[in-house]
Amino acid sequence: MDSSLDLSCALVIFGATGDLTHRKLLPAIYNLYQQKVLSDNFALIAIGRRDKTNEEYRVEVYKSIKQFSRFSIEEEVWDGIKNRIYYKSMDFLQKEKYVELNDFLTEMDRKHNTKGNRIYYMAVAPEYFEGIVDKLSSCCMNKVEKAWKRVVIEKPFGRDLQSAKYLNSKIVDVFQEENTYRIDHYLGKEMLQNIMVLRFANMLFEPLWNNKYIDNIQISSSETVGVENRGGYYERAGAMRDMVQSHMLQLISLIGMEPPNDLDPESIRNEKVKVLKALKRINLEDIEENVVRGQYSSGQSDKETIIGYREEKRVASSSNTETFVALKVYIENFRWARIPFYIRTGKRMPKKSTEIIIQFKSIEDILYFKEKQLQPNMLVIRIQPREGVFFQFNAKEPGTEQNIIPVQMDFCQNCQIGINSPEAYERLLYDVMRGDATLFARWDEVEYSWKFVDSILEAWKNQNPTFPNYEAGTWGPKEAELLLQKDKKRWMNI
Ligand code: BG6
Repeated sequence: MDSSLDLSCALVIFGATGDLTHRKLLPAIYNLYQQKVLSDNFALIAIGRRDKTNEEYRVEVYKSIKQFSRFSIEEEVWDGIKNRIYYKSMDFLQKEKYVELNDFLTEMDRKHNTKGNRIYYMAVAPEYFEGIVDKLSSCCMNKVEKAWKRVVIEKPFGRDLQSAKYLNSKIVDVFQEENTYRIDHYLGKEMLQNIMVLRFANMLFEPLWNNKYIDNIQISSSETVGVENRGGYYERAGAMRDMVQSHMLQLISLIGMEPPNDLDPESIRNEKVKVLKALKRINLEDIEENVVRGQYSSGQSDKETIIGYREEKRVASSSNTETFVALKVYIENFRWARIPFYIRTGKRMPKKSTEIIIQFKSIEDILYFKEKQLQPNMLVIRIQPREGVFFQFNAKEPGTEQNIIPVQMDFCQNCQIGINSPEAYERLLYDVMRGDATLFARWDEVEYSWKFVDSILEAWKNQNPTFPNYEAGTWGPKEAELLLQKDKKRWMNI
């Protein structure tokens, strides 16, 4: 990270007491400070509705950092940052409060030399996004006068194309596209940033990265957790909106994109959006063939009995919300025609992992491949929890005359001593401070993602799922296996 940049700013977090702020944002800020990336001219103003003093809030922040930060808290470092953290109690929807907030931020400019630069971070429920942006605008807190003002919007960005368009028009009207940072925290993950490097900095992979040499691509993101305490939100979202519309489609676009002309944020995002535009829509006629949805019932882990989704808090006992989805997706362009991208994501699965598996075609039936069932080459990009790259190829089994076995080269990035990968939010907050939007979703990316997802959601309205259809702790409904079996393939669990 370049410490010569001027990152002076006030970070205003709406949603001071929420989970995201405590688990992700505050530890990220502490870590940036600890690594001396944060400017000396920095202040954090956390806004919540409950009454609290700065001192009370700082005690809570300390506890959260202690619990969630990747670095253990050091008293000296904490002493350096704690007096830059402020708590302000206010009702987000009362305009007069914004006048007070603006005065307070001006005072921060004097006290901490934050130079009028501001980041407004929406870590609140989505129904507040519009109201907050509207009040900021009516108090002229979006005005760029020698200083920048940026807004960070957490997902979900709308719940379909129509609502996303509406929300976008409200935000961009006030902040303009160049100051709008739509978070997709997957883009902040180390190995996602590595996909482009792997593809475009190695002669070995890029020439093979197309339908001539690749047989299929599998992208799996599985979680062991259920909906935790987010039943209310999840009921309205489901796995399609929660994971596919954002994270999974971002992964597809990075794997599928053409090389950009340069590393400018716009050039990169131009290429990504082309992939999203080229996704073959799935409509009612082809939904059976290409999409499987699931919902978990109760099950057993090694330690405990897990309740079913319908028994979770704030979930309807007859809920038809999907907690699992598997899809077969095609990118209709020259590079990828006919190559299936299989995507799968779900809650309450056997392990937490996100992986991209690129399976190469088999060699023609000649020489060693003749009459032998050899394994195809496989490249696996491991996003989490293990970060790295795994490559499988064929070699002679030592000591045998002609036995061929698959062997693996396994590069584990975060197993190396001294590598403690930054949390996604550290990178993303740093990028907002320096005004680099590469790792944020541009509006047209969001728009085309919704177009793809909306047609599936629309088709689902005409079908009644038979839920629950997979047991907690398993790899989803059996139909997800059949989705690949029909194509004579199977999910790889590396
Ligand atoms: C969030 C979803 O965007 O991503 C959650 O809302 C999900 O439901 C989470 O659990 C997964 O993120 P990660 O980084 O743990 O894979």
